[in-house]
Amino acid sequence: MVSDFVASLGLTFATVILHATLPYVSANPVPTPAPFTPSGGLGTNATHPPVYSPMSHFDFQSLNLALNQELIELDLFHFGLAKFSVDEFEAAGLDADDRFLIEFMADQEVGHAKALTDILGPHSAKSCNYSYPINTVREFVDFCQKLTRFGESGVYGFLEHLDSRASAQILLQSISTEARQQMIFRQFEGLFPMPVWFIPGITQSMAWTLLSPYIVSCPAENPHIVFQNFPALNITNNPSVINDSLTPLVSNNLSALSFPGRELFLSWESPGKITGYNDSYVTNTTAGEPQFVAWISQLNTTYTPLSNISGNTGTTIQPNGTIFGGDTAPVINGTMFVVITDSDPFLTPFNISLLNEHIVAGPALYQSG
Ligand SMILES: *[C@@H]1O[C@H](CO)[C@@H](O)[C@H](O)[C@H]1NC(C)=O
Ligand SMILES: *[C@@H]1O[C@H](CO)[C@@H](O)[C@H](O)[C@H]1NC(C)=O
Ligand SMILES: *[C@@H]1O[C@H](CO)[C@@H](O)[C@H](O)[C@H]1NC(C)=O
Ligand SMILES: *[C@@H]1O[C@H](CO)[C@@H](O)[C@H](O)[C@H]1NC(C)=O
Ligand SMILES: *[C@@H]1O[C@H](CO)[C@@H](O)[C@H](O)[C@H]1NC(C)=O
Ligand SMILES: *[C@@H]1O[C@H](CO)[C@@H](O)[C@H](O)[C@H]1NC(C)=O
Ligand SMILES: *[C@@H]1O[C@H](CO)[C@@H](O)[C@H](O)[C@H]1NC(C)=O
Ligand SMILES: *[C@@H]1O[C@H](CO)[C@@H](O)[C@H](O)[C@H]1NC(C)=O
Ligand SMILES: *[C@@H]1O[C@H](CO)[C@@H](O)[C@H](O)[C@H]1NC(C)=O
Ligand SMILES: *[C@@H]1O[C@H](CO)[C@@H](O)[C@H](O)[C@H]1NC(C)=O
Ligand SMILES: *[C@@H]1O[C@H](CO)[C@@H](O)[C@H](O)[C@H]1NC(C)=O
Ligand SMILES: *[C@@H]1O[C@H](CO)[C@@H](O)[C@H](O)[C@H]1NC(C)=O
Repeated sequence: MVSDFVASLGLTFATVILHATLPYVSANPVPTPAPFTPSGGLGTNATHPPVYSPMSHFDFQSLNLALNQELIELDLFHFGLAKFSVDEFEAAGLDADDRFLIEFMADQEVGHAKALTDILGPHSAKSCNYSYPINTVREFVDFCQKLTRFGESGVYGFLEHLDSRASAQILLQSISTEARQQMIFRQFEGLFPMPVWFIPGITQSMAWTLLSPYIVSCPAENPHIVFQNFPALNITNNPSVINDSLTPLVSNNLSALSFPGRELFLSWESPGKITGYNDSYVTNTTAGEPQFVAWISQLNTTYTPLSNISGNTGTTIQPNGTIFGGDTAPVINGTMFVVITDSDPFLTPFNISLLNEHIVAGPALYQSG
């Protein structure tokens, strides 16, 4: 199977393995620290026991942002369960077992918030008041699916950059659970559960931009979040299945919601708008003139030209391309991210934060599949 797959990519199995291990294949292996233990790795010995606390301002801010995300999820899941009647849930195809699952997800958020609060200590964020753009069960499920997407991707963007690898371990274990929540909300909506091969990571500033509009007020002692709030971006012809008659399914072989060559209509705000809670956050950009649309999906940041620019509106075309060329998965699929940029730097998942300084507006979540 694996070798068939690798062959389909035009590589031989041997090339892939050698490419991955070459510098460490040696006829005279270096001494190993213990039996059956290869040299290298970080934090694997008993002389440096793990410490589960932030080791830098970067760690504190990133983990506290993640805590804000866990707290809104906890509130949101309870909000939806309380707002809608049993009849309304049943009409959307969600029965008592499904509602119990949402309640269980809220319980998971209690655990995630506690774990992060324990790591951050007494100065961590406390729960806030929120506002949700939700009037129906289907809108609730769709909003949960989108909110958990940027929650999950927002963590993947910084997890590997944390100074505290021990804290990253705990956060990873909570965000793997959130990944399952995201997929289940897609299933509740009748979407194909996971139409991608890789879940993208986004920067903290992108995640904070997407989260902040829903926070109304917080306890005054909540730590100020230092990440950037970019001007909001709206895809005015975003695909949506909210009004379709899809029913919850483990997997629905939907026809594509979007396709390469589809024109997107975009409108964005100018910087300087108050967002988030406590009148403390103002949208900002350090970018120059809008020129490109960056599509952040799978492992890729792909650019298309921004056309028909008129004031704060423009259009672009959904790009083509597959993740590893040929017949592999299309790069653009699922609930992914688009931003407007002033240039098109080549980026890979580990250095995507270099995009922040080029962002004119966004991200917006594109419901491409
Ligand atoms: C133990 O782990 C620490 C942290 O990763 C490292 O600095 C140190 O060199 C390791 N000690 C040994 C004996 O491997
Ligand atoms: C939430 O709103 C209520 C009513 O306006 C207010 O009393 C409370 O202090 C707010 N809580 C937070 C955490 O901002
Ligand atoms: C905002 O929070 C700061 C401390 O974080 C507090 O000093 C200030 O009074 C708050 N302002 C408002 C409008 O709530
Ligand atoms: C985005 O555009 C759509 C279509 O014009 C509109 O219905 C929606 O209210 C806009 N959303 C925001 C947040 O401005
Ligand atoms: C769904 O239908 C309602 C009522 O017709 C409409 O107000 C709303 O804009 C529609 N939503 C989408 C995403 O198409
Ligand atoms: C599911 O859709 C794909 C195209 O996206 C098609 O190739 C396949 O035959 C479909 N499978 C079923 C069971 O309908
Ligand atoms: C996204 O993935 C689904 C499931 O594999 C597929 O049916 C659909 O055609 C894909 N969408 C695009 C735009 O390729
Ligand atoms: C996308 O690429 C495929 C394969 O190269 C090609 O057949 C198709 O016409 C392209 N579509 C667009 C919109 O460029
Ligand atoms: C954006 O941030 C820069 C640098 O901190 C600041 O000089 C500028 O006043 C800010 N712009 C707005 C609109 O807040
Ligand atoms: C936008 O520009 C492209 C090429 O620059 C053009 O093909 C397209 O028709 C334009 N779309 C609109 C809505 O004006
Ligand atoms: C997507 O990213 C992968 C991994 O970096 C790369 O091999 C591939 O060429 C990229 N695909 C496109 C269409 O940019
Ligand atoms: C990001 O990393 C890739 C290597 O993975 C490198 O080729 C690229 O130049 C980097 N981008 C920037 C803007 O530094």
